[in-house]
Order: sequence, then C-alpha cells, then structure tokens
Amino acid sequence: MLTKQRKLILSHAQRDMMRKAGRANAELMDFLRPHVQAGVTTAAIDKLVHDWTYDHGYKAATLGYQKFPRCCCTSINEVICHGIPDDTELKDGDIVNIDITTVVDGWHGDQSETFMIGEVSEEKRAVMQCAFDCMHMAIDQLTPGCRVASIGETVVPEAHKRGFTVVREYVGHGLGRQFHLDPSIPHFPNRQSRIDRLFPGMCFTVEPMINAGTRYTKSDKVDGWTVRTKDGRPSAQFEHSVLMTESGPEILTLTKDGPQKGHQF
Ligand code: MF3
Ligand code: CO
Ligand code: CO
Repeated sequence: MLTKQRKLILSHAQRDMMRKAGRANAELMDFLRPHVQAGVTTAAIDKLVHDWTYDHGYKAATLGYQKFPRCCCTSINEVICHGIPDDTELKDGDIVNIDITTVVDGWHGDQSETFMIGEVSEEKRAVMQCAFDCMHMAIDQLTPGCRVASIGETVVPEAHKRGFTVVREYVGHGLGRQFHLDPSIPHFPNRQSRIDRLFPGMCFTVEPMINAGTRYTKSDKVDGWTVRTKDGRPSAQFEHSVLMTESGPEILTLTKDGPQKGHQF
C-alpha cells in the first residue's frame, strides 16, 4: 500500500473517536427531526444546529468552511446540495435535505436526510425513495478491500432502472480529522474509483444525489454555493458516514428515530 493510502487507515482508538463523532451527529439529526415542519425557516433550523452543537462543546464543520456562512446545508426541492439556511419557510409539498457535520474532539461525523413536508408529489417521494435505497444498497454491498467503483456500479443502474439520474459533480469523500479526505467516493464508476480500495480502518461517506430529470447541475452565481438541477426538477439525497472494518461496513451515523434501511416513504 502507498504511504498516502496508509494514512487513511485508522487505529482502533481512532476508530472509536469516529464512532463517537458519528453518534453525536446522529443525535443532532434526531434532535432536529421534530422541528422540520411547515412554517419553520431554514435559518431557524440552522440556529437549532448551532446552539445544540456549541452547547455540547462540539463544532459545526461547515461554519466558515471555504467561507460557508452557516452550521448546516438546507436544500429544498430542485436544490441538490449546499443550500444556505435563510429566511425561507418550509411549506407543505416541499422536500428538504438537511446536511450536518459535527466535529467532536477534532473528528468529523457527516450525514444528511431528506425530509417530506406534509404531502409531497409522487415524483418527489419516488426520488427520495431512490436516494435512500441507493445509499443503503451501496453500503450493503461493501466488503473489506473492495473497489470504490462498486458504489457507482450499484447506484447508477438502480437509479436508471427507476427513471432517475445520478449527480456526478458532487461526491462522497474520506472523513476523519478533516472534513474532506481521500478517497473521493463518486456515485458513478470512473477511472480513479476503479483503482481506489476501501480497506479496514478507512472512514468515508456514501451520499448519492439523485435527480428526477437531467443529471446536470448549475450553481448559484450570486451566493456561490447553492447547487440546483439544470432543469428545475426535484433532487434528493441521503448520507451516512461509514467505517470499513475487518468484517465489513459499519454505519457510524445511524439515528434512533429516522428512517431505517428498508423504510418506505
Ligand atoms: N456536508 C457536505 C458533504 O456531505 C459538505 C458541505 S460543505 C459546505 O460533504 F460548505 F457546503 F457546507
Ligand atoms: Co454532508
Ligand atoms: Co459528506
């Protein structure tokens, strides 16, 4: 193994630190859950994230990350990712992805969920279901030392089978003492992912973004962050932090109250 790759392998003590960060992040998601409702602004959700995080003595990784101004990302309907919390009120029929990253003693937990506000269209429900199922299918097929490309080889055919597309510009990533580490985890197979392997002791995210229409994206020229679908149709995403162990993948960010594998939205 190359020295560069060896640095990604965590000791057993370090794995426990990642478990702790993942658990804290998941606890925050469960804390937010009852507040994600029609009439609540995304800024109010961000304030809840901020206060919970700093009251616990943790940090929010996104705050100040490459000048990102908030403690979480809130991405509504056609927004794929990196939506900035503001005074927009959630309303009936919206889907909203909330992406949170807590830093505990220097170690990162990273996860997101898409929530339905009241009754949503069949298209929005189906695209959410697809993102959730693709994430779990991709995690489930991982084995110690497997190729990163196995993730894309799972996600792309499943999404296409359901008539949806997979975003390529934004990807999962290694995770540890830094927010974004090697290896890059694309949700489609590419040259590098056919080379990269997931060895025991490596931590990374699986976070497929699935679009109802075209896979192409456009980012907001004014705020520099918000990424939308090019055709304005909805997009959904789920994310977990995963540790590869000697006996297979371990999800570090499982919630108590959220949708579990197999959930039907
Ligand atoms: N949490 C996102 C991820 O899953 C990254 C957000 S970076 C931000 O990788 F700057 F937009 F917050
Ligand atoms: Co995230
Ligand atoms: Co991530």
